[in-house]
Amino acid sequence: MCGIVGFVGMQKAAPILLDGLKKLEYRGYDSAGIAVMDQQVISISKVRGRIANLCEKTQDGSLMPGVVGIGHTRWATHGAPTEENAHPHLSNDGRFAVVHNGIIENYISLREELIKDGYHFLSETDTEVIVHLIEMYYRGNMRDALIKTVNRLRGSYAIGVICSEEEGKIYAVREASPLILGIGIGENFFASDVTALVNHTRNVIYLEDGEFAELSAQSIKIFDCSGTEFRKKATRIMWDVQAAEKGGYEHFMLKEIMEQPGAVKATIAPRLRDGKVVFEELEGLAAELPNIRKIVITACGSAYYAGCNGKYALERLSRIPVEVELASELRYSDPLIDEHTLLIVISQSGETADTIAAMRECKSRGAVTLAIVNVVGSSIASLADYTVYTWAGPEIAVATTKGFTTQITVLYMLSLFFADCLKRIDKDEDKFIETLQALPRMIQQAIDMNPSVPLLAKKYHESHALFFIGRNTDYAVALEGALKMKEISYLHAEAYAAGELKHGTIALIEEHQPVIALCCNPSIMEKTLSNIVEVKSRGAEVLALTFRHNQKILSVADDLLFIPDVDALFSGVIEIVPLQLLAYYVAKENGCDIDKPKNLAKSVTVE
Ligand code: F6R
Repeated sequence: MCGIVGFVGMQKAAPILLDGLKKLEYRGYDSAGIAVMDQQVISISKVRGRIANLCEKTQDGSLMPGVVGIGHTRWATHGAPTEENAHPHLSNDGRFAVVHNGIIENYISLREELIKDGYHFLSETDTEVIVHLIEMYYRGNMRDALIKTVNRLRGSYAIGVICSEEEGKIYAVREASPLILGIGIGENFFASDVTALVNHTRNVIYLEDGEFAELSAQSIKIFDCSGTEFRKKATRIMWDVQAAEKGGYEHFMLKEIMEQPGAVKATIAPRLRDGKVVFEELEGLAAELPNIRKIVITACGSAYYAGCNGKYALERLSRIPVEVELASELRYSDPLIDEHTLLIVISQSGETADTIAAMRECKSRGAVTLAIVNVVGSSIASLADYTVYTWAGPEIAVATTKGFTTQITVLYMLSLFFADCLKRIDKDEDKFIETLQALPRMIQQAIDMNPSVPLLAKKYHESHALFFIGRNTDYAVALEGALKMKEISYLHAEAYAAGELKHGTIALIEEHQPVIALCCNPSIMEKTLSNIVEVKSRGAEVLALTFRHNQKILSVADDLLFIPDVDALFSGVIEIVPLQLLAYYVAKENGCDIDKPKNLAKSVTVE
């Protein structure tokens, strides 16, 4: 997905912009560009493909003098990934350059109007209307021109602008797309993501919708849509620079898998007090809970599967009915939601367009909204009535790992918290609190118990298709296991509820067909075992994921992955770990671009 950086200071801007863009590469992009201003002249350099090409073209920025500039990584939406469509876009008179994340929904009518007024378009993008509007409205005052311009725009945008007549300044505006200001000493920055800033400063200001910023080397001024200036509090980013880098691992994904014991601990520890789950951020919700008749969980992709996993614990412990809905479906489904519904919205990035739209739809019907989000200050966190942060730290690999496990962890904790608030305490509550406390250690064990994963990857990496089967809580994990496999290794992988096999899918089982069978739920273990026997008798190779002492499965499976003994209600967060490792090593065997799988973006901010 697109990324933005902006810099104003005393040092050369181009190398700083290029460095910032490199930090944003993980978001997924297909072209990139920078614009730098020197002695009232704006020069632009753009490339198709990687930032490395841009570094080469500009000789690491040395060919572009100037201490003021903006940069962009583009993920094509309107128009092909070409140099012409890459940002920054320049106005016809060369005085303005613009970078933009998001979508301008009314760009076709604006484009027609601007063409009638004599403006020439050089790209197919929706963004280019912005730079021509700014040129049209500019009368010596950038604030006025910006306000008039955004008044004409419909859609979502984070915009960065430079103007050759306003030397030593960069401008930014945000509406429904993230934008953060970085406060330096004698220099200031903006970026769509803190990762691009942490090398330079930890002091940041999160812009909110409808807010504008004017940055010079010495000052940051924030103003609203009437041009009135106001002050905003700065936040200190606690992530260190290394947390946003690979830390010695070959890929971010592997680093993030290994970080899971710490991430889950950071999510649990501050919320456990005197043998109880305490969410200080949910005090108001506790009072509203008696009015809640059902919980609807909505999200996309892995976050949706986190919801599928959490449903079991939520229903079992809180006794509130739970539905889990894909956000892209829920938003158009005329949902039966009212003020007695608690909508739980799950999102690592907090910026997923479908999830935001589903949330707005349900809010408009009266739902109480609770967001489970990793990125502080993100759109979903701002929109929600209540927000619980998953303290996973920055997740750079496109395929989520620690984002997912911390989401499930929060759902487990919510199930205990709701049960407590509603006085539906299970007699086993102490047991569950102990399990919760043990989860970080058990995740580490699930990593340590499976040294054979790279070897298994060698055996299975050439398979044409992999079937993941399981029942109940195991099925919910199988869904995420299959998604991990297909998105990073490009192998066809599907998850099936094991009991469904005989209703059609078993027709696909033939000699040497790999079947990954999840058997970590004792209550339905015998049933899954029968399904394993069924596929084995048709020639399947079975890789079973189970407990080390599970003799029955050990004797029928061809290969094994293990987890430590854990209550099935909370086992999803452990079970997924060996499957993440399997997907990782299969992708590595296949030579895939693991951290940036093809066709995927980290944060899907368009529908
Ligand atoms: C898969 C993956 C995606 C995301 C989905 C939602 O590994 O990362 O399926 O889970 O795009 O993203 P967020 O959680 O940012 O809303």
